[in-house]
Amino acid sequence: MRHFTEIDDLSPSELERVLDLSSASASPTLLAGKGVALIFEKPSARTRNSMEMAVVQLGGHPVYIGNEEVGLNRRESTEDVTRAMAGFHAAIGARVYSHSVVERMAAVDQVPVINLLSDIGHPMQALADLLTIHQEFGTLKGRSVAYVGDANNVAFSLALGAGLAQMEFRIASPAGYEFDEADLARISNLREPLVCDSPIAAVTGADAVYTDAWTSMGQEAEAETRTRDFEGFQVDEKLMESAASTAIFLHCLPAHRGEEVTDAVLDGPNSRIWPQAANRMHAARGLLVWLLGEANR
Ligand code: CP
Ligand code: NVA
Repeated sequence: MRHFTEIDDLSPSELERVLDLSSASASPTLLAGKGVALIFEKPSARTRNSMEMAVVQLGGHPVYIGNEEVGLNRRESTEDVTRAMAGFHAAIGARVYSHSVVERMAAVDQVPVINLLSDIGHPMQALADLLTIHQEFGTLKGRSVAYVGDANNVAFSLALGAGLAQMEFRIASPAGYEFDEADLARISNLREPLVCDSPIAAVTGADAVYTDAWTSMGQEAEAETRTRDFEGFQVDEKLMESAASTAIFLHCLPAHRGEEVTDAVLDGPNSRIWPQAANRMHAARGLLVWLLGEANR
């Protein structure tokens, strides 16, 4: 059984196929009479809504399950929750604190499991990011994306996705917030990322400039230290001037206006953050069509 725990679960041609399906209109009967369980240990606006609406567009029924309700590994083991949900649903999506929970769900292997964000990766976001870049430039191969900030879950999946699509991935992170050796090795398996020593080095000439919050969900206790450590890593208009003249700005959102990025960039002419957010739904639909159609027939 195929799962989607990280974007490199896809081969390069499968990624291309999922992106094509994301641009196609919905098959409104694919999930007729079927459910998709959406388990959230952490809050969400975009991921919940995009997944729910993608399931609706395919004729299915999404069921949102909050952490207090399902109590993964408190009320019931991850494996038992997965087995129970597999009795009702065609697929299970999960947003979890520990990536191992998504892996344990996938190991049950009864229905396809989709990672809706873990401490390690955010592959559904990366699909929408690539779709947005493709819509802008008409191609991915040879294009460059510069990520400024924390080498976090969003950066990791984006780096893997860029590697699969034969894009150049550059990153500048403050000391102590870089990818570790294991992350770099996994990304480099697909394509060597360019690790830069300053935001300006990363951004110079780039086609897309990307950033994310300095403090991710679950790291709230570190917020003050991080704000200090990320000084000089804000994306502002001056930094954007170093990118290609046609460069776009991307952010997974939610944004912390005035921290990792200024209002002028978020709301400026190069910003594609709203089409990018809307693409979460199209990418979710494309992934579901692939995963519940041709990948697991
Ligand atoms: N980008 C993203 O995943 O947003 P949510 O946390 O609101 O789902
Ligand atoms: N890196 C962020 C992404 C939110 C969509 C987090 O994990 O909180």
